[in-house]
Amino acid sequence: SLYEESRFPALQANVGFALLAFVGGVWIVPRVSEAFIEKGLKGRDLLKPGGRSNGPWIPECLGLPCASWYLGLMMLFIPFPFSHLFKSKSLLGDVGRPESFPHNELTLYLSSLLSLLTATLLGFIDDLFDIRWRHKLPIPIVAAVPTLLVYYSVGGATSVVLPKAVGGWLGGIGLGRFMDGNVVDLGPIYYLYLILLPTFTTNSINILAGINGVEVLQALIISLSVLLNDLLFLPIWPESLLVWMKISNPQQGRILDWAIGEVVDRHLMSFYFMAPLSGVCLGFLWHNWYPAKAFPGDTFCYFTGMAFSAVAIQGHFSKTLILFFIPQIFNFILSCPQLFGLVDCPRHRLPSYDDRSGLLNPSRVIFELPPPRKTVIVLEILSFLKLVKLERLPPINESSKGYIKSSTNLTIINFLLVHFGPMREDKLCILVGIVQVSGSIIAFAIRYGVGSWFYGG
Ligand code: UD1
Ligand code: MG
Repeated sequence: SLYEESRFPALQANVGFALLAFVGGVWIVPRVSEAFIEKGLKGRDLLKPGGRSNGPWIPECLGLPCASWYLGLMMLFIPFPFSHLFKSKSLLGDVGRPESFPHNELTLYLSSLLSLLTATLLGFIDDLFDIRWRHKLPIPIVAAVPTLLVYYSVGGATSVVLPKAVGGWLGGIGLGRFMDGNVVDLGPIYYLYLILLPTFTTNSINILAGINGVEVLQALIISLSVLLNDLLFLPIWPESLLVWMKISNPQQGRILDWAIGEVVDRHLMSFYFMAPLSGVCLGFLWHNWYPAKAFPGDTFCYFTGMAFSAVAIQGHFSKTLILFFIPQIFNFILSCPQLFGLVDCPRHRLPSYDDRSGLLNPSRVIFELPPPRKTVIVLEILSFLKLVKLERLPPINESSKGYIKSSTNLTIINFLLVHFGPMREDKLCILVGIVQVSGSIIAFAIRYGVGSWFYGG
């Protein structure tokens, strides 16, 4: 088992690696920036004076050195969780290697690294060639196959707790099988969810983008949330605190009833990946914060997104993970009309910069011709829900509302600007951060409060 009293050195080493990840992120970015610009890996900072035509050139795709640094550290870390095996003589067989080596755990670790490498490669290719949507969607699915097979091999659960009515309905149409109580085994459907998870986590971070610091800040907050969730499962908490929180009962002689056996191991594994990830994100944020000296590129979004999926699948907490993506889910649903062609989707949907005030305004998609009926219906609904602001041409007669001439772009960032008014880029980024942290607080409340029945088991 990964966790034993003697394993705390691995945990401590991991915290050391997280610090190294941070320092490395801060150190490496300015040192390679020039080389990236020389190779043409640069983009204009669109929301600065000069904008599209004259904004400052910023090195792009600096997620690559960060991902490389992180992956290097994670490879060097491989021996640590197993280090106690090297010491104990009793485990050495005749040939001088451990007989009961936990191959399962090593496989989990290695398959996660493989998925991460693939995602980094995909992100880098996207940065170099701007792959089309329909081409890049399936690639995280392929990248997730190793992780999914390992999940299957360790007997990964496919059951969820559902209200009897929903479970019965799913069973009735042949999509699930009743276990005991309210537990429904979703079988292949659950795998479908797991297959789509990496596609979602990678792309959803990439499309909540466009202002300095925002991709990296999201990744940092999600990573810290996963880390906190992992910590809850590790037997490191003083008994008095647990009794006070009513999650422990000394009479029963257990610390946390969930903090035992495999569950601890899985969250320990997740911790090993998330602590250095938080480190490298924070290190990179140093350079990506307003006014940005470096852009993350799609490499960063894909690599961090895949890291979240990998640890959640391996750690059997994929349902909890998705709760930390509430702002991304909102942004994705809001974006759907543009992503799927109902409303024009310009290359960039980031806000627009006002040269006079230096503030950001919501950007707009402009309709040269009156938009088709389907589009009008969708936009009217979104406008009714106050998610977009429409601009109309004067009506022809009193009874009509007038053609829609333009709409704010369908992103959470523009939505925030519509609601809170124009603001400076760094303020807006902090606001997105506040939304993300609030999302995580809601996530914890759902996971351990009202919705714990859904997650039970
Ligand atoms: C996604 C978004 C796009 C958004 C872009 C910004 C969708 C479907 N796509 O596209 O709307 O405009 O991210 O990253 O929602 N940039 C800045 N300031 C920043 C970050 C980026 O000006 O803080 C600009 C730079 O010119 C940079 C470019 O955006 O070169 C990077 O865009 P890229 O990440 O390639 O865009 P996508 O991920 O394809
Ligand atoms: Mg991007």
